[in-house]
Amino acid sequence: MAAEASAWRRRLAASATLAAVTLLVAAIVVYAFAPGGRDITSVASIKIGGPFTLTTQSGAELSDTDLKGKPFAVFFGFTHCPEVCPTTLWETSQALEALGPEANRLKVLFISVDPERDDPEALALYLQSFDPRIVGLTGSEEEIAAVATSYRAYWRKVPTEDGDYTMDHTASIYLMDAAGEFTGTISYDEQADMRLAKLRKLLAGGVS
Ligand code: NI
Repeated sequence: MAAEASAWRRRLAASATLAAVTLLVAAIVVYAFAPGGRDITSVASIKIGGPFTLTTQSGAELSDTDLKGKPFAVFFGFTHCPEVCPTTLWETSQALEALGPEANRLKVLFISVDPERDDPEALALYLQSFDPRIVGLTGSEEEIAAVATSYRAYWRKVPTEDGDYTMDHTASIYLMDAAGEFTGTISYDEQADMRLAKLRKLLAGGVS
């Protein structure tokens, strides 16, 4: 009887271990293959974000300390961007509208990685096409380099055949909590419902 019970316990322990291992493997697979899961910025242990003081599209100064107590989203781009920026800003505008008045608590920052062309006036003109709550930010080359580096964003000037240039840049949106801590990203190919769920979670104070 006792031997039978202990064999049963061993089988139970073995199946519990197997279940735990299966769950762990499943979690790794989900993490590795989920959209955005391969994005290195999803690893919360990496310090992302830092202090900045930049100029808004209305010419005002905005710094990270002005955002304390409010969650915010950061996107790096430029007004001459042919696709990624207008798509992201349009989708973000749709999400803000879907969130309703709740979205007033969320700051969305569009930081230009092309300060040479994107002065406050250029940003103001460009952002007229999107939700007015989106704040455009620009600064000196050094200020932009410092903030982009602190967010571990990628940006690079690429010459074009006509003698002009375009910019390559990170396409993910960084989600930062009310304490200014990085909580996750929204990837460029994120589905609309997922994007909305992540923003709701951010507003509720959770990690995404
Ligand atoms: Ni872009």
